[in-house]
Amino acid sequence: MRNIVILISGAGSNMEAIVHASHRDQWRDKLRANVSAVISNRADAAGLQFARAQGLATAVVDHKAFSTREAFDAALASEISKFDNAQCPALVVLAGFLRILTPGFVQTFNGRLLNIHPSLLPAFPGLNTHQRALDEGCKVAGATVHMVTPALDQGAILAQAVVPVLPEDTAATLGARVLTQEHRIYPQAVAGWIRANPV
Ligand code: GRF
Repeated sequence: MRNIVILISGAGSNMEAIVHASHRDQWRDKLRANVSAVISNRADAAGLQFARAQGLATAVVDHKAFSTREAFDAALASEISKFDNAQCPALVVLAGFLRILTPGFVQTFNGRLLNIHPSLLPAFPGLNTHQRALDEGCKVAGATVHMVTPALDQGAILAQAVVPVLPEDTAATLGARVLTQEHRIYPQAVAGWIRANPV
């Protein structure tokens, strides 16, 4: 069985979409995969409540408790590795996880670390993607699921979704439109990765 560990920092709506898809599409039986744990760097991340209500294992690794990024990442890696099993390392899914990870952490999970970014990469890596798309006069925007590499927002693209930018859009309205598409493509991309990497 492939364990899936999801890392969040906030609302966790992408995490919810993945958990729902895993039940609806019977990933446990059909893909031999299972969302096993949700880990947050913030104790007040709203998504933790949903995860607990689902009976998922949860953990908080508070970045403020560590003096270096390396020490935080080591503690996070240790928490994730509880869900590795001898036959099969866990898939690690970043879902609104708002920490930059060290190259050492990325190397540890190389090839099994996914992220979703709210732009059509390679356009607009980094922060404030929706406002930047509006400022540039983009007519479309979207989201990208990609493999995580040490270079920020630059790993291989697994899936993308495109939405129109409307004349009256604000960063908030555009972001909400993009987010609904994130909820569609992230579960699909996770399932696709699992199919391509069978146990
Ligand atoms: C999403 O827009 C995601 O692309 C970005 O942060 C947001 C997280 O939303 N990285 P949620 O926590 O999944 O609701």
